[in-house]
Amino acid sequence: MTDTAGTWSGRFSEPVSELVKRYTASVFFDRRMALQDIRGSLAHARMLAKQAIIAAADLAAIERGMAQIQGEIERGEFVWNLDDEDVHLNIEKRLTALVGDAGKRLHTGRSRNDQVATDIRLWLRDTIDAIDGLLADFIRALIDTAETHAATPLPGFTHLQVAQPITFGHHLLAYVEMMRRDRSRMQDVRRRVNRLPLGAAALAGTTFPIDREFVAKELGFDGVCENSLDAVSDRDFAIEFTAAAALVMVHLSRLSEELILWMSPRVGFIDLADRFTTGSSIMPQKKNPDVPELARGKSGRVFGHLMGLLTLMKGQPLAYNKDNQEDKEPLFDTADTLIDTLRVFAEMVPGIKVKPEAMRAALKQGYATATDLADYLVKKGLPFRDAHEAVARAVQAAEQRGCDLADLALSELQAFSPLIGEDVFAVLTVEGSLAARDHIGGTAPAQVKAAIARLRAAL
Ligand code: ARG
Repeated sequence: MTDTAGTWSGRFSEPVSELVKRYTASVFFDRRMALQDIRGSLAHARMLAKQAIIAAADLAAIERGMAQIQGEIERGEFVWNLDDEDVHLNIEKRLTALVGDAGKRLHTGRSRNDQVATDIRLWLRDTIDAIDGLLADFIRALIDTAETHAATPLPGFTHLQVAQPITFGHHLLAYVEMMRRDRSRMQDVRRRVNRLPLGAAALAGTTFPIDREFVAKELGFDGVCENSLDAVSDRDFAIEFTAAAALVMVHLSRLSEELILWMSPRVGFIDLADRFTTGSSIMPQKKNPDVPELARGKSGRVFGHLMGLLTLMKGQPLAYNKDNQEDKEPLFDTADTLIDTLRVFAEMVPGIKVKPEAMRAALKQGYATATDLADYLVKKGLPFRDAHEAVARAVQAAEQRGCDLADLALSELQAFSPLIGEDVFAVLTVEGSLAARDHIGGTAPAQVKAAIARLRAAL
Protein backbone atom coordinates (compact mmCIF):
# COMPACT_ATOMS: atom_id res chain seq x y z
CA MET A 1 0.00 0.00 0.00
CA THR A 2 1.32 3.41 -0.94
CA ASP A 3 1.30 7.06 -0.09
CA THR A 4 -1.16 8.40 2.45
CA ALA A 5 -2.05 4.97 2.88
CA GLY A 6 1.31 4.83 4.66
CA THR A 7 -0.01 7.23 7.28
CA TRP A 8 -3.04 5.30 8.42
CA SER A 9 -3.29 2.16 6.32
CA GLY A 10 -2.35 -0.40 8.94
CA ARG A 11 -5.80 -1.86 9.35
CA PHE A 12 -6.98 -1.77 5.75
CA SER A 13 -6.90 -4.74 3.41
CA GLU A 14 -7.16 -2.85 0.11
CA PRO A 15 -6.05 0.58 -1.09
CA VAL A 16 -8.46 3.48 -1.38
CA SER A 17 -10.05 3.62 -4.83
CA GLU A 18 -8.71 6.31 -7.13
CA LEU A 19 -12.15 7.86 -7.33
CA VAL A 20 -12.48 8.06 -3.55
CA LYS A 21 -8.97 9.43 -3.26
CA ARG A 22 -9.88 12.29 -5.51
CA TYR A 23 -13.24 12.76 -3.81
CA THR A 24 -11.79 13.00 -0.33
CA ALA A 25 -8.56 14.86 -1.03
CA SER A 26 -8.33 18.53 -0.14
CA VAL A 27 -4.70 19.28 -0.89
CA PHE A 28 -5.44 21.27 -4.02
CA PHE A 29 -7.31 23.85 -2.03
CA ASP A 30 -6.09 23.53 1.55
CA ARG A 31 -2.46 23.98 0.51
CA ARG A 32 -3.32 27.64 0.79
CA MET A 33 -2.82 27.19 4.51
CA ALA A 34 0.66 25.68 4.11
CA LEU A 35 2.54 28.44 5.91
CA GLN A 36 0.01 28.46 8.74
CA ASP A 37 0.36 24.68 8.95
CA ILE A 38 4.12 25.02 9.32
CA ARG A 39 3.77 27.78 11.91
CA GLY A 40 1.38 25.61 13.92
CA SER A 41 3.63 22.55 13.67
CA LEU A 42 6.69 24.46 14.82
CA ALA A 43 4.87 25.80 17.87
CA HIS A 44 3.61 22.31 18.67
CA ALA A 45 7.10 20.82 18.26
CA ARG A 46 8.66 23.48 20.51
CA MET A 47 6.12 22.68 23.16
CA LEU A 48 6.77 18.93 22.83
CA ALA A 49 10.51 19.53 23.30
CA LYS A 50 10.00 21.92 26.23
CA GLN A 51 7.83 19.28 27.92
CA ALA A 52 10.46 16.61 27.18
CA ILE A 53 7.93 14.68 25.08
CA ILE A 54 10.39 14.73 22.18
CA ALA A 55 14.16 15.23 22.35
CA ALA A 56 15.88 18.55 21.68
CA ALA A 57 17.60 16.88 18.72
CA ASP A 58 14.20 15.97 17.23
CA LEU A 59 13.03 19.57 17.54
CA ALA A 60 16.21 20.78 15.83
CA ALA A 61 15.62 18.34 12.98
CA ILE A 62 11.96 19.38 12.66
CA GLU A 63 12.94 23.06 12.57
CA ARG A 64 15.60 22.40 9.94
CA GLY A 65 13.22 20.34 7.81
CA MET A 66 10.38 22.86 8.09
CA ALA A 67 12.71 25.72 7.08
CA GLN A 68 13.60 23.79 3.97
CA ILE A 69 9.94 22.95 3.22
CA GLN A 70 8.89 26.55 3.69
CA GLY A 71 11.56 27.59 1.20
CA GLU A 72 10.36 24.99 -1.29
CA ILE A 73 6.77 26.20 -0.95
CA GLU A 74 7.72 29.87 -1.29
CA ARG A 75 9.81 29.15 -4.37
CA GLY A 76 7.00 27.07 -5.87
CA GLU A 77 9.17 23.95 -5.86
CA PHE A 78 7.20 21.89 -3.38
CA VAL A 79 5.57 18.90 -5.05
CA TRP A 80 1.98 18.54 -3.85
CA ASN A 81 0.72 15.03 -4.02
CA LEU A 82 -2.92 14.01 -4.27
CA ASP A 83 -2.04 10.68 -2.72
CA ASP A 84 -1.20 12.51 0.47
CA GLU A 85 -4.73 13.82 0.79
CA ASP A 86 -4.31 17.20 2.41
CA VAL A 87 -1.86 19.96 3.23
CA HIS A 88 -1.07 18.45 6.62
CA LEU A 89 -0.06 15.02 5.36
CA ASN A 90 1.84 16.45 2.38
CA ILE A 91 4.02 18.54 4.65
CA GLU A 92 4.45 15.85 7.28
CA LYS A 93 5.45 13.33 4.64
CA ARG A 94 8.02 15.67 3.13
CA LEU A 95 9.34 16.43 6.61
CA THR A 96 9.85 12.76 7.30
CA ALA A 97 11.58 12.32 3.95
CA LEU A 98 13.94 15.14 4.93
CA VAL A 99 14.64 14.41 8.61
CA GLY A 100 13.52 10.83 9.24
CA ASP A 101 12.09 9.71 12.60
CA ALA A 102 11.95 13.22 14.07
CA GLY A 103 9.37 13.97 11.36
CA LYS A 104 7.32 10.98 12.47
CA ARG A 105 7.39 12.22 16.08
CA LEU A 106 5.86 15.61 15.21
CA HIS A 107 2.31 14.27 15.33
CA THR A 108 2.68 13.14 18.96
CA GLY A 109 -0.21 14.47 21.07
CA ARG A 110 -1.89 15.99 18.05
CA SER A 111 -4.54 15.06 15.49
CA ARG A 112 -5.31 16.50 12.11
CA ASN A 113 -8.59 17.55 13.70
CA ASP A 114 -7.04 20.09 16.05
CA GLN A 115 -4.31 20.79 13.49
CA VAL A 116 -6.71 21.86 10.74
CA ALA A 117 -8.82 23.90 13.14
CA THR A 118 -5.64 25.73 14.19
CA ASP A 119 -4.54 26.31 10.60
CA ILE A 120 -7.87 27.82 9.58
CA ARG A 121 -7.89 30.11 12.58
CA LEU A 122 -4.36 31.29 11.84
CA TRP A 123 -5.24 31.79 8.19
CA LEU A 124 -8.44 33.64 9.01
CA ARG A 125 -6.71 35.88 11.53
CA ASP A 126 -4.16 36.91 8.89
CA THR A 127 -6.98 37.45 6.42
CA ILE A 128 -9.03 39.57 8.82
CA ASP A 129 -5.95 41.74 9.45
CA ALA A 130 -5.49 42.23 5.71
CA ILE A 131 -9.18 43.09 5.32
CA ASP A 132 -8.93 45.59 8.15
CA GLY A 133 -6.22 47.46 6.23
CA LEU A 134 -8.27 47.40 3.04
CA LEU A 135 -11.38 48.66 4.82
CA ALA A 136 -9.28 51.50 6.21
CA ASP A 137 -7.97 52.33 2.71
CA PHE A 138 -11.49 52.36 1.31
CA ILE A 139 -12.76 54.51 4.17
CA ARG A 140 -9.92 56.97 3.52
CA ALA A 141 -10.81 57.11 -0.18
CA LEU A 142 -14.46 57.81 0.65
CA ILE A 143 -13.53 60.52 3.14
CA ASP A 144 -11.18 62.23 0.67
CA THR A 145 -13.85 62.32 -2.02
CA ALA A 146 -16.45 63.45 0.52
CA GLU A 147 -14.18 66.32 1.50
CA THR A 148 -13.90 67.51 -2.11
CA HIS A 149 -17.69 67.46 -2.30
CA ALA A 150 -18.61 68.61 1.21
CA ALA A 151 -20.76 71.37 -0.33
CA THR A 152 -21.76 69.84 -3.69
CA PRO A 153 -25.58 69.61 -3.77
CA LEU A 154 -27.19 66.35 -4.80
CA PRO A 155 -30.82 65.35 -4.63
CA GLY A 156 -31.39 63.04 -1.71
CA PHE A 157 -33.92 60.36 -2.60
CA THR A 158 -36.52 58.40 -0.74
CA HIS A 159 -38.47 55.82 -2.77
CA LEU A 160 -36.09 56.88 -5.55
CA GLN A 161 -38.09 60.13 -5.76
CA VAL A 162 -36.35 63.44 -5.18
CA ALA A 163 -36.76 64.19 -1.49
CA GLN A 164 -34.49 66.92 -0.11
CA PRO A 165 -31.15 68.47 -1.02
CA ILE A 166 -28.12 66.80 0.49
CA THR A 167 -24.45 67.14 -0.31
CA PHE A 168 -22.55 64.51 -2.23
CA GLY A 169 -20.04 64.48 0.61
CA HIS A 170 -22.78 63.70 3.13
CA HIS A 171 -24.01 60.88 0.92
CA LEU A 172 -20.54 59.31 0.77
CA LEU A 173 -20.13 59.64 4.53
CA ALA A 174 -23.16 57.38 4.95
CA TYR A 175 -21.04 54.63 3.38
CA VAL A 176 -18.16 55.54 5.67
CA GLU A 177 -20.41 54.80 8.64
CA MET A 178 -21.36 51.43 7.17
CA MET A 179 -17.72 50.56 6.54
CA ARG A 180 -16.75 51.61 10.06
CA ARG A 181 -19.32 49.23 11.49
CA ASP A 182 -18.06 46.54 9.12
CA ARG A 183 -14.58 47.11 10.38
CA SER A 184 -15.58 46.80 14.00
CA ARG A 185 -17.63 43.69 13.19
CA MET A 186 -14.50 42.11 11.71
CA GLN A 187 -12.51 43.03 14.82
CA ASP A 188 -15.19 41.43 16.93
CA VAL A 189 -15.02 38.23 14.88
CA ARG A 190 -11.24 38.27 15.21
CA ARG A 191 -11.46 38.05 19.00
CA ARG A 192 -13.36 34.77 18.75
CA VAL A 193 -11.19 33.43 15.91
CA ASN A 194 -8.06 34.01 17.94
CA ARG A 195 -8.27 30.96 20.22
CA LEU A 196 -6.07 27.88 20.05
CA PRO A 197 -7.65 24.49 19.24
CA LEU A 198 -4.35 22.52 19.43
CA GLY A 199 -4.27 20.21 22.40
CA ALA A 200 -7.78 18.98 21.73
CA ALA A 201 -6.13 16.27 19.60
CA ALA A 202 -8.76 14.09 17.90
CA LEU A 203 -11.57 15.14 20.23
CA ALA A 204 -10.87 14.25 23.87
CA GLY A 205 -7.48 15.79 24.57
CA THR A 206 -4.25 13.82 24.88
CA THR A 207 -2.45 11.65 27.39
CA PHE A 208 0.81 13.60 26.97
CA PRO A 209 1.73 16.36 29.44
CA ILE A 210 1.21 19.17 26.96
CA ASP A 211 1.34 22.92 27.62
CA ARG A 212 -1.44 24.52 25.59
CA GLU A 213 -0.90 28.00 26.99
CA PHE A 214 2.66 27.90 25.69
CA VAL A 215 1.51 26.98 22.19
CA ALA A 216 -1.17 29.68 22.30
CA LYS A 217 1.43 32.25 23.19
CA GLU A 218 3.85 31.07 20.50
CA LEU A 219 1.14 31.49 17.89
CA GLY A 220 -0.19 34.81 19.15
CA PHE A 221 -3.55 33.43 20.25
CA ASP A 222 -5.37 35.21 23.07
CA GLY A 223 -6.04 31.91 24.80
CA VAL A 224 -7.06 28.30 24.26
CA CYS A 225 -10.38 26.78 23.22
CA GLU A 226 -11.69 25.58 26.56
CA ASN A 227 -13.42 22.40 25.45
CA SER A 228 -11.69 19.81 23.29
CA LEU A 229 -14.87 18.64 21.52
CA ASP A 230 -15.86 22.19 20.68
CA ALA A 231 -12.30 23.04 19.60
CA VAL A 232 -12.22 20.45 16.80
CA SER A 233 -15.81 20.58 15.67
CA ASP A 234 -17.33 24.03 15.55
CA ARG A 235 -16.75 26.39 12.66
CA ASP A 236 -18.96 29.17 13.98
CA PHE A 237 -16.01 31.55 13.70
CA ALA A 238 -15.89 30.90 9.94
CA ILE A 239 -19.64 31.46 9.70
CA GLU A 240 -19.36 34.70 11.64
CA PHE A 241 -16.60 35.89 9.38
CA THR A 242 -18.64 35.08 6.30
CA ALA A 243 -21.65 36.86 7.79
CA ALA A 244 -19.52 39.95 8.45
CA ALA A 245 -18.14 39.69 4.90
CA ALA A 246 -21.67 39.33 3.52
CA LEU A 247 -22.62 42.60 5.21
CA VAL A 248 -19.63 44.38 3.70
CA MET A 249 -20.77 43.05 0.33
CA VAL A 250 -24.33 44.26 0.98
CA HIS A 251 -22.94 47.74 1.56
CA LEU A 252 -20.68 47.62 -1.48
CA SER A 253 -23.56 46.30 -3.55
CA ARG A 254 -25.79 49.21 -2.53
CA LEU A 255 -23.06 51.68 -3.44
CA SER A 256 -22.60 49.83 -6.73
CA GLU A 257 -26.29 50.14 -7.49
CA GLU A 258 -26.08 53.89 -6.92
CA LEU A 259 -22.98 54.31 -9.05
CA ILE A 260 -24.65 52.40 -11.87
CA LEU A 261 -27.79 54.50 -11.59
CA TRP A 262 -25.89 57.78 -11.31
CA MET A 263 -23.82 56.89 -14.36
CA SER A 264 -26.82 56.07 -16.52
CA PRO A 265 -27.17 58.87 -19.12
CA ARG A 266 -30.79 59.22 -17.95
CA VAL A 267 -29.45 60.41 -14.61
CA GLY A 268 -25.94 61.54 -15.49
CA PHE A 269 -24.80 62.59 -12.00
CA ILE A 270 -21.36 61.02 -12.31
CA ASP A 271 -18.93 59.41 -14.65
CA LEU A 272 -16.50 56.68 -13.68
CA ALA A 273 -12.90 56.87 -14.84
CA ASP A 274 -12.48 55.04 -18.13
CA ARG A 275 -10.14 52.51 -16.58
CA PHE A 276 -13.02 51.24 -14.44
CA THR A 277 -15.46 50.83 -17.29
CA THR A 278 -15.67 48.75 -20.44
CA GLY A 279 -17.07 49.16 -23.90
CA SER A 280 -19.51 47.02 -25.81
CA SER A 281 -18.38 44.70 -28.56
CA ILE A 282 -21.35 45.70 -30.71
CA MET A 283 -22.55 49.15 -29.59
CA PRO A 284 -19.76 51.69 -30.18
CA GLN A 285 -21.34 54.39 -28.00
CA LYS A 286 -21.40 52.32 -24.81
CA LYS A 287 -19.42 52.87 -21.64
CA ASN A 288 -20.52 50.30 -19.11
CA PRO A 289 -20.04 50.35 -15.32
CA ASP A 290 -18.85 46.73 -15.26
CA VAL A 291 -16.93 47.04 -12.01
CA PRO A 292 -19.87 48.07 -9.82
CA GLU A 293 -22.10 45.62 -11.68
CA LEU A 294 -19.70 42.78 -10.93
CA ALA A 295 -19.43 43.82 -7.31
CA ARG A 296 -23.23 43.81 -7.05
CA GLY A 297 -23.24 40.37 -8.63
CA LYS A 298 -20.41 38.99 -6.53
CA SER A 299 -22.30 39.80 -3.35
CA GLY A 300 -24.51 36.85 -4.32
CA ARG A 301 -21.74 34.31 -4.08
CA VAL A 302 -20.73 35.52 -0.63
CA PHE A 303 -24.33 35.23 0.61
CA GLY A 304 -24.34 31.75 -0.91
CA HIS A 305 -21.20 30.82 1.01
CA LEU A 306 -22.81 32.00 4.24
CA MET A 307 -25.81 29.78 3.59
CA GLY A 308 -23.48 26.94 2.60
CA LEU A 309 -21.49 27.13 5.82
CA LEU A 310 -24.58 27.32 8.00
CA THR A 311 -25.96 24.26 6.26
CA LEU A 312 -22.61 22.47 6.51
CA MET A 313 -22.70 22.83 10.29
CA LYS A 314 -26.29 22.28 11.24
CA GLY A 315 -26.59 18.50 11.14
CA GLN A 316 -23.21 17.54 12.53
CA PRO A 317 -23.04 15.59 15.77
CA LEU A 318 -20.02 16.24 17.98
CA ALA A 319 -17.16 16.14 17.39
CA TYR A 320 -15.13 16.40 14.17
CA ASN A 321 -16.69 15.12 10.95
CA LYS A 322 -15.20 15.16 7.50
CA ASP A 323 -18.02 17.51 6.47
CA ASN A 324 -15.84 20.23 7.94
CA GLN A 325 -13.34 19.88 5.14
CA GLU A 326 -15.98 21.65 3.05
CA ASP A 327 -15.52 24.84 5.07
CA LYS A 328 -12.41 25.92 3.23
CA GLU A 329 -13.45 26.70 -0.31
CA PRO A 330 -16.36 28.94 0.71
CA LEU A 331 -14.15 30.64 3.26
CA PHE A 332 -11.33 31.22 0.78
CA ASP A 333 -13.66 32.43 -1.92
CA THR A 334 -15.42 34.77 0.51
CA ALA A 335 -12.09 36.31 1.49
CA ASP A 336 -10.86 36.56 -2.11
CA THR A 337 -14.07 38.15 -3.29
CA LEU A 338 -14.12 40.66 -0.45
CA ILE A 339 -10.44 41.55 -0.77
CA ASP A 340 -10.60 42.05 -4.55
CA THR A 341 -13.76 44.11 -4.30
CA LEU A 342 -12.40 46.36 -1.56
CA ARG A 343 -9.18 46.91 -3.50
CA VAL A 344 -10.97 47.88 -6.66
CA PHE A 345 -13.38 50.18 -4.81
CA ALA A 346 -10.60 52.01 -2.98
CA GLU A 347 -9.13 52.82 -6.38
CA MET A 348 -12.38 53.54 -8.17
CA VAL A 349 -13.90 56.04 -5.72
CA PRO A 350 -11.25 58.78 -6.11
CA GLY A 351 -11.81 58.55 -9.88
CA ILE A 352 -15.51 59.41 -9.70
CA LYS A 353 -16.17 62.46 -11.86
CA VAL A 354 -19.02 64.41 -10.33
CA LYS A 355 -21.38 66.43 -12.57
CA PRO A 356 -22.79 69.13 -10.28
CA GLU A 357 -24.99 70.75 -12.98
CA ALA A 358 -26.92 67.54 -13.52
CA MET A 359 -27.39 67.10 -9.78
CA ARG A 360 -28.66 70.65 -9.42
CA ALA A 361 -31.04 70.31 -12.38
CA ALA A 362 -32.54 67.19 -10.79
CA LEU A 363 -33.00 69.06 -7.51
CA LYS A 364 -34.98 71.79 -9.25
CA GLN A 365 -37.20 69.37 -11.11
CA GLY A 366 -37.99 67.53 -7.92
CA TYR A 367 -39.13 70.45 -5.69
CA ALA A 368 -36.49 69.39 -3.22
CA THR A 369 -36.94 72.46 -1.02
CA ALA A 370 -40.66 71.95 -0.44
CA THR A 371 -40.05 70.72 3.12
CA ASP A 372 -38.00 73.85 3.76
CA LEU A 373 -40.98 75.98 2.77
CA ALA A 374 -43.23 74.00 5.11
CA ASP A 375 -40.70 74.41 7.96
CA TYR A 376 -40.59 78.16 7.17
CA LEU A 377 -44.35 78.42 7.61
CA VAL A 378 -44.22 76.46 10.86
CA LYS A 379 -41.63 78.90 12.17
CA LYS A 380 -44.10 81.69 11.34
CA GLY A 381 -46.71 80.01 13.52
CA LEU A 382 -48.64 77.70 11.17
CA PRO A 383 -49.24 74.14 12.47
CA PHE A 384 -47.12 71.68 10.49
CA ARG A 385 -50.04 69.80 8.93
CA ASP A 386 -51.51 73.07 7.58
CA ALA A 387 -48.09 74.12 6.31
CA HIS A 388 -47.73 70.77 4.56
CA GLU A 389 -51.07 71.30 2.82
CA ALA A 390 -50.25 74.88 1.74
CA VAL A 391 -46.92 73.82 0.26
CA ALA A 392 -48.50 70.85 -1.52
CA ARG A 393 -50.80 73.30 -3.29
CA ALA A 394 -47.86 75.55 -4.15
CA VAL A 395 -46.00 72.55 -5.64
CA GLN A 396 -49.06 71.69 -7.69
CA ALA A 397 -49.18 75.25 -9.06
CA ALA A 398 -45.48 75.25 -9.88
CA GLU A 399 -45.85 71.90 -11.56
CA GLN A 400 -48.65 73.26 -13.76
CA ARG A 401 -46.46 76.20 -14.67
CA GLY A 402 -43.49 73.90 -15.23
CA CYS A 403 -41.23 75.88 -12.90
CA ASP A 404 -39.45 75.58 -9.55
CA LEU A 405 -41.00 76.90 -6.30
CA ALA A 406 -38.36 79.63 -6.23
CA ASP A 407 -39.51 80.79 -9.67
CA LEU A 408 -42.98 81.70 -8.41
CA ALA A 409 -43.50 85.38 -7.66
CA LEU A 410 -43.94 86.46 -4.04
CA SER A 411 -47.56 87.40 -4.73
CA GLU A 412 -48.22 83.96 -6.22
CA LEU A 413 -46.71 82.26 -3.17
CA GLN A 414 -48.73 84.45 -0.82
CA ALA A 415 -51.89 83.04 -2.35
CA PHE A 416 -51.03 79.79 -0.56
CA SER A 417 -50.31 81.49 2.76
CA PRO A 418 -50.31 85.14 3.79
CA LEU A 419 -47.47 84.28 6.21
CA ILE A 420 -45.04 84.11 3.29
CA GLY A 421 -42.74 87.13 3.05
CA GLU A 422 -39.77 88.34 1.03
CA ASP A 423 -37.43 86.26 3.23
CA VAL A 424 -38.89 83.04 1.77
CA PHE A 425 -36.50 83.01 -1.18
CA ALA A 426 -33.48 82.41 1.04
CA VAL A 427 -35.24 79.27 2.27
CA LEU A 428 -36.16 78.04 -1.18
CA THR A 429 -32.60 77.94 -2.46
CA VAL A 430 -30.64 74.71 -2.38
CA GLU A 431 -27.78 76.38 -0.50
CA GLY A 432 -30.18 77.74 2.13
CA SER A 433 -31.79 74.34 2.52
CA LEU A 434 -28.43 72.62 2.99
CA ALA A 435 -27.02 75.18 5.42
CA ALA A 436 -30.17 75.00 7.56
CA ARG A 437 -29.60 71.32 8.47
CA ASP A 438 -26.87 72.36 10.81
CA HIS A 439 -26.65 69.79 13.57
CA ILE A 440 -24.60 66.68 14.18
CA GLY A 441 -25.48 64.13 11.51
CA GLY A 442 -27.06 66.78 9.26
CA THR A 443 -26.13 67.56 5.68
CA ALA A 444 -25.02 71.21 6.13
CA PRO A 445 -21.58 71.57 4.50
CA ALA A 446 -20.17 72.81 7.83
CA GLN A 447 -21.43 69.62 9.49
CA VAL A 448 -20.03 67.44 6.71
CA LYS A 449 -16.63 69.05 7.24
CA ALA A 450 -16.88 68.57 11.01
CA ALA A 451 -17.81 64.93 10.50
CA ILE A 452 -14.82 64.46 8.22
CA ALA A 453 -12.52 65.93 10.85
CA ARG A 454 -13.90 63.54 13.47
CA LEU A 455 -13.60 60.57 11.13
CA ARG A 456 -10.00 61.39 10.25
CA ALA A 457 -9.11 61.66 13.90
CA ALA A 458 -10.68 58.25 14.53
CA LEU A 459 -8.87 56.49 11.66
N1 ARG B 1 -8.42 17.65 5.55
C1 ARG B 1 -9.14 17.57 6.75
C2 ARG B 1 -10.03 18.80 6.92
O1 ARG B 1 -9.90 19.70 6.20
C3 ARG B 1 -8.19 17.47 7.89
C4 ARG B 1 -8.74 16.76 9.09
C5 ARG B 1 -9.01 15.36 8.72
N2 ARG B 1 -9.18 14.55 9.85
C6 ARG B 1 -9.61 13.31 9.72
N3 ARG B 1 -9.68 12.59 10.75
N4 ARG B 1 -9.98 12.85 8.56
O2 ARG B 1 -10.89 18.85 7.76
